[in-house]
Amino acid sequence: MPAAIIDGKVVADRMQAEIAEQAARFTAKQGYPPGLGVVLAGDDPASAQYVRMKSRACERVGIASFSRVMTAASTQQEVEDAVASLNADPKVHGILVQLPLPKGINEEPVLRLVSLDKDVDGFHPVNIGMLGMKGRDPLFTPATPTGCMVLLKEAGAQIEGANAVVIGRSNIVGLPVALMLMKANATVTVCHSRTRDMQSIVRQADIVIAAIGKAEFVKGDWLKPGAVVIDVGTNKVDDPNDERGYTFIGDVEYSSAVNVASAITKVPGGVGPMTITMLLANTMKAAWRLAGE
Ligand code: GUN
Repeated sequence: MPAAIIDGKVVADRMQAEIAEQAARFTAKQGYPPGLGVVLAGDDPASAQYVRMKSRACERVGIASFSRVMTAASTQQEVEDAVASLNADPKVHGILVQLPLPKGINEEPVLRLVSLDKDVDGFHPVNIGMLGMKGRDPLFTPATPTGCMVLLKEAGAQIEGANAVVIGRSNIVGLPVALMLMKANATVTVCHSRTRDMQSIVRQADIVIAAIGKAEFVKGDWLKPGAVVIDVGTNKVDDPNDERGYTFIGDVEYSSAVNVASAITKVPGGVGPMTITMLLANTMKAAWRLAGE
């Protein structure tokens, strides 16, 4: 029997409807809407596209967005000043610094500068540190990993005690999702470009999170039958059949994996819609906290 499809769009739409209700309630009570500040520096087209999608989603649910758009020639000081101005703005409840920052900008001090109360991306080193520590809870967790965890729960995956394999160790996805799985009492293995015999490790996994950024890297015959598979990859590939001339495919070879897994996400329509939704949810949470509720 082919795997059940874990539909991120359906889950995201449901959650966004709930966020829109909350945003309307917040606005009625405070007299102004929840606000998300976005720092976009540089000319990476993918980053510009993500930021446009985030702004549109904010508009849809009734969250105001405040953009600080800067060129690739921006200095460290200018980027830090943009964050500081959003920290100081009472109409801004959440701050997102779109990554990667341009070459020559040191990311670490920029992320450290984001007010902890407004760190809706969860990338402040204190929030990441608390995510990794036993008995501590960060104020906010990063959007994409949180979306993966929500989808696992939607799929009915048993996380506690499961063997979970994360493929990829980026600061944005691989590392934080591994920490979140560990907090949820999974036994976690992180595979990466230097891992030996990755297939035999993936074969042990009840849960696979693929976030390595390589198109169709994980094949169906790597998987343990019945595994739950979350595909974080969004790899742009040429596609003459698509009117744009390109399309996006995941890190998992869907056509073979769907016959082995018990549940699987699609690309697009899996993790992607969840990322923005979790950012909106974190912004709403930040707004209520800052309003004293
Ligand atoms: N770049 C790619 N993904 C993300 C994300 O989730 N947040 C930010 N800030 N930048 C990103």
